[in-house]
Amino acid sequence: MQSPFLTDMLEGLNKTPKVLNSMYFYDKIGDTIFQEIMNMDAYYLPKVELEIIQNQTAEIANRLSSEELDIIELGAGDGVKTVAFLKNMIAAGKKVNYVPLDISPDVLEINKTNILSQIPELSIEPIAGDYFKTMAILKDRKKPKLILFLGSNIGNFKGQRGTDFLKLVKSHMTSEDHLLLGADLKKDPKTVLRAYNDPEGITARFNLNLLSRMNRELKANFDIKKFEHYPYYDPISGSCYSYLVSLENQSVEIADQTILFSKNECIHTEVSQKYSLNDLQELCESAGFEKFQTFLDQKQWFCLALTQ
Ligand code: AVI
Repeated sequence: MQSPFLTDMLEGLNKTPKVLNSMYFYDKIGDTIFQEIMNMDAYYLPKVELEIIQNQTAEIANRLSSEELDIIELGAGDGVKTVAFLKNMIAAGKKVNYVPLDISPDVLEINKTNILSQIPELSIEPIAGDYFKTMAILKDRKKPKLILFLGSNIGNFKGQRGTDFLKLVKSHMTSEDHLLLGADLKKDPKTVLRAYNDPEGITARFNLNLLSRMNRELKANFDIKKFEHYPYYDPISGSCYSYLVSLENQSVEIADQTILFSKNECIHTEVSQKYSLNDLQELCESAGFEKFQTFLDQKQWFCLALTQ
């Protein structure tokens, strides 16, 4: 049977224009490059989100009436920011169980080690798998839940898929549960573009790793030197797009297929959506969330929205 990775890659490469799902960026090498991105000066997102977590978690805790909570984190990553959130929730008097969900088992191991080294007494139950499968476990949990979807991961869903994803989350929530949604806000366009076009070329390596991953796992023969990372930010819509541009006419073998690229042809690999507060509220409402409160950093670059 064909792997979902191969099926999705072939489907996307046979479309016009060609498109690949950014979910596949995150193999072991992609996880490591993403950690480099998170530490880059140009990639401001984790710093401003952490500022909100440091200064406003106590206030967020105040808005949650239950003393005991299951904190379920979707796309948990390495947990560096979450440690601060969990510590501040505990300091605010909440009794928490932490359930990180992530597609990458490797990253969940790092998450667990990181978090337990700083909060040894925490109850932690990591679950590996894609959101769509692992989210089903949410329904069986009895305690009130606070679901975290941080890092502006929501921005990587294209168009309607963002609403559909939030609807799915909502369908697993009871009236006592809350979602804390991290979203990158619209701001000066040069700052946004630089975050995806860093001078060190780390984001370029991240994007190109998808082609290398196909070489490693699907025995494809992409010549990585013949493709270039191209990010583009449209400040009106707030969409930051990443592409891989073919630098010449070329053909690539993948499984039994030959894929043709013409010079300057682009593969669309990722969207990273930026929001106004209004856009964000509309997005939450379109998914059926009724209550909506926002917590911002000082520069108003990033928002944590508590929604129900
Ligand atoms: C994971 N996600 C929110 C990142 C973003 O900003 O869209 C992924 C990323 N792509 C390039 N740099 C970072």
